[in-house]
Amino acid sequence: MNKFAGKTALVTGASSGIGESISRQLAEKHCNLILVARRGDKLEALKYELEAQYDITVSTISHDLATLEAGKSLHQKTKALGLDVDILINNAGYAKHGAFHLTPLDTHLDMMHLLTTTLTELTYLYSEDMKQLGGGYILLVASIAGFMPIPQFATYAASKAFVLSLGESLNKELSEFNINVTTLCPGGTATEFMDVSGQNITGFRRHAIMTSDAVAHAGIRAVSKGKAVIVPGLLYKFSMAGLRAVPRGLQAMIGEAATK
Ligand SMILES: NC(=O)c1ccc[n+]([C@@H]2O[C@H](COP(=O)([O-])OP(=O)(O)OC[C@H]3O[C@@H](n4cnc5c(N)ncnc54)[C@H](OP(=O)(O)O)[C@@H]3O)[C@@H](O)[C@H]2O)c1
Repeated sequence: MNKFAGKTALVTGASSGIGESISRQLAEKHCNLILVARRGDKLEALKYELEAQYDITVSTISHDLATLEAGKSLHQKTKALGLDVDILINNAGYAKHGAFHLTPLDTHLDMMHLLTTTLTELTYLYSEDMKQLGGGYILLVASIAGFMPIPQFATYAASKAFVLSLGESLNKELSEFNINVTTLCPGGTATEFMDVSGQNITGFRRHAIMTSDAVAHAGIRAVSKGKAVIVPGLLYKFSMAGLRAVPRGLQAMIGEAATK
């Protein structure tokens, strides 16, 4: 059954990668969209394409989500436009690969703000609204990086561990309000993320890279089934299950080797 037809989804980071794929797949399910990212031109192009293809309404909001109280101001903007959000897709994010001290402190703080503070603000504010609406769906995009410590990706992995823990807790806490919280933990995915993060994936690891469409499909399916956590792809699913039995020190070595 298509649970998303006629609903409205707010997708952060909709201008590329996983967020763009999620937006396209929700549009196909006749879900109205509010597309959010900094690159307004990309959002506008996607809006016109999707509105021409499907009988839906698409709004765009160009917004920097790494700034102070960015979540609050985005929430105010959607209120001012009279838009109710039934589905919140907290997806915007980036990473910087490199030694802790060779990465500027401001970069760590900016990334952590986007990945954790703004994500929490948006989750808090829109889930309050969802309580009034009688329910809703929230997808938090974490990462397999949330399952282990990763030297050279330290603050990114720590931020994603925060998202995973938050998602699992809220899945239990908000279910009594008919709000379903799902946490999506992708492994390597072919998006702009790889260039932005400065990773250089070579050799056999290239075969483990998934498409953003496959990751988005797994995420949307998990949301519609009410799953708490989803790791897309069999290779990553089994690897994360096996990782639980491995001591944390060894996990850190595996994490570092896998993300170089
Ligand atoms: N690709 C992977 O291997 C991978 C693996 C695990 C998890 N993830 C997670 O998946 C999510 C999506 O990443 P992706 O792979 O799809 O990468 P992507 O193609 O680079 O997309 C990132 C999105 O986030 C937006 N964004 C970045 N900084 C922002 C800011 N300050 N304010 C508003 N929007 C911002 C970007 O839009 P603008 O630049 O237009 O603002 C873009 O739409 C991220 O949370 C990432 O951590 C990715």
